[in-house]
Amino acid sequence: MQSDEVRKRYLAFFEKRGHIIVSSSLIVPENDPTTLFTGSGMQSMLPFLLGEKHPLGSRITDSQKCFRAEDIEEVGDNRHTTFFEMLGNWSFGDYFNHEQLPWIFEFLIQEIGLDPNRLFVTVFLGDEKNDLSRDITSAEIWKQLFAEKDIEARDIILGTEERAAQVGMQDGRIFYYDAKKNWWSRTGVPDNMPAGEPGGPCSEMFYDFGTTHDEKYGKHCHPNCDCGRFVEIGNNVFMKYKKTSAGKFEELPQKNVDFGGGLERIVAATNNNSDVFKIDALNVIVKQIESLTNVIYKDSATTTQSFRIIADHIRGAVFMIEDGVLPSNTDAGYFVRRLLRRAARHMDLLGMKENMLFKLVPTIIQAYSGAYPELASKGDIITKEIQQEEERFRKTLQQGLARFEKIKEKDILGKVAFDLYQSYGFPLELSKELALEKGMSVDEEGFRQEMKKHQETSRVGAEQKFKGGLADTGDKSIKYHTATHLLHQALRVVLGEEVEQKGSNITNERLRFDFTYSRKMTEEERKQTEDLVNQKIAEALSVTYEDMLLESARTLGAIGLFGDKYGDTVRVYKIGAQKNFFSIEICGGPHATNTKELGSFRIIKEEASSAGVRRIKAVLSVL
Ligand code: ALA
Repeated sequence: MQSDEVRKRYLAFFEKRGHIIVSSSLIVPENDPTTLFTGSGMQSMLPFLLGEKHPLGSRITDSQKCFRAEDIEEVGDNRHTTFFEMLGNWSFGDYFNHEQLPWIFEFLIQEIGLDPNRLFVTVFLGDEKNDLSRDITSAEIWKQLFAEKDIEARDIILGTEERAAQVGMQDGRIFYYDAKKNWWSRTGVPDNMPAGEPGGPCSEMFYDFGTTHDEKYGKHCHPNCDCGRFVEIGNNVFMKYKKTSAGKFEELPQKNVDFGGGLERIVAATNNNSDVFKIDALNVIVKQIESLTNVIYKDSATTTQSFRIIADHIRGAVFMIEDGVLPSNTDAGYFVRRLLRRAARHMDLLGMKENMLFKLVPTIIQAYSGAYPELASKGDIITKEIQQEEERFRKTLQQGLARFEKIKEKDILGKVAFDLYQSYGFPLELSKELALEKGMSVDEEGFRQEMKKHQETSRVGAEQKFKGGLADTGDKSIKYHTATHLLHQALRVVLGEEVEQKGSNITNERLRFDFTYSRKMTEEERKQTEDLVNQKIAEALSVTYEDMLLESARTLGAIGLFGDKYGDTVRVYKIGAQKNFFSIEICGGPHATNTKELGSFRIIKEEASSAGVRRIKAVLSVL
């Protein structure tokens, strides 16, 4: 089956079962200080999992564009990609495992024709320490479902991955694993979750491609083995718990379902081919790389790896640029840069020492024209950005090579290799290769330590944002979110209605707001804007919302991103009196309930962001 077909059938299947289809959120979430990328479909659903009412009801389904930066080094095997589409369906306090598991089974077996004999599932073993019970109910539901297909489904306790590799599958079909494998929250196992975070036991589904087990990955194969025989195609999370500030787990007032399935992998399963790069949407990229380079995809293990890296990275970069993230040295932009440079480097390894990546853009746009027609309208910008980044890379490559020539030491220290990586975008393998040419070697362990140190620093930075638990973070970011609405409207009053939001990003410490405007603001305009925001805070205006049709919101003059994220019904936030409000904006929330909670507002920076776009950074301080 083709990707468009599977995506369409999945959405229609859940629509028939009472779900409303919503379109994908952006890959870089707005107003979420806790994460750089949308890594799973549930991210934009968090408020609704915690109890806020979704304007479209308690059953939602979508196909979400996701990016997992942490998987960048994994790309090259048969199944890992950084960018992927996650098919999702949610119950916000509506149905639970008794409905979810039969539905998803029916979808996989009846609707898209997977062989039930090739399906294996896992369930949560329980976690005594945190008083979280074993998910026997889900195991029983699965048994029943397999029995209906005349398959005897034995349940086997495996526990840890290590134990699983020791004892093997013992003719089982349903496997109990510990919290490391069968508990899902945004921050992983129960012990790692901050207070306020929701989570729950999960039941994963694996497709058996029947390839030969490689003992390099452990004595015996099992669903969570990394040899590539079993590929996880979906995860049913039964999100019914929340961690309390005392570190205990309490049941949420509503029991939720968060299902996520990897579209690419499900398509691969329908084709019975364990190589996700063989599915239609990725295979066309692979084919075009073949024709550009005159190298065959499966010539050797290293060329296969290069093809996969190029195909994955270029596709990820195209979708990121489409969502407004341009290559840069910070935040999400850094990853776009990394993707493109790594892809360019692998083009080199295939013998192409000239700019080529941009030639792949039309192929990707074409492959996704059915599901993401908006890609086409940005085709020129995407192509131009990628071409420019390739040019910049060739230049830094030259500078990096010059730096390389100056290395005096006999072998390359980890610190130097890391500097080449950080400053010139040299992947470790490039330094290694160049070193080899000169009869030198690279201290890889040292490089990894430097990398770890760097990641630690970033992690500490990220954890700072969690300081005091999620409740606190939530509280601060909510205030910044409301301040962003005040700022948006204040700019329209001071500078005029040509001001339109281009982007917004909030951390625990500041807000950042990008808007269209052709020149630098004057001191006076800056002060007027700041004063107006502070005046509205002092007026102690109430913040309220109403769900209404997009048409009505437009008639009322609501500003904000008009993307039809919520279909035809949108949530509209007002700041001020019902009729005589100061700001009206389409937005999913959440917000402070009154502007008096915000403290004092100060603009700390106003600068150019890109052509015709200005960027303001501002802070709130408690009075
Ligand atoms: N949120 C779940 C996951 O990402 C479905 O695996």
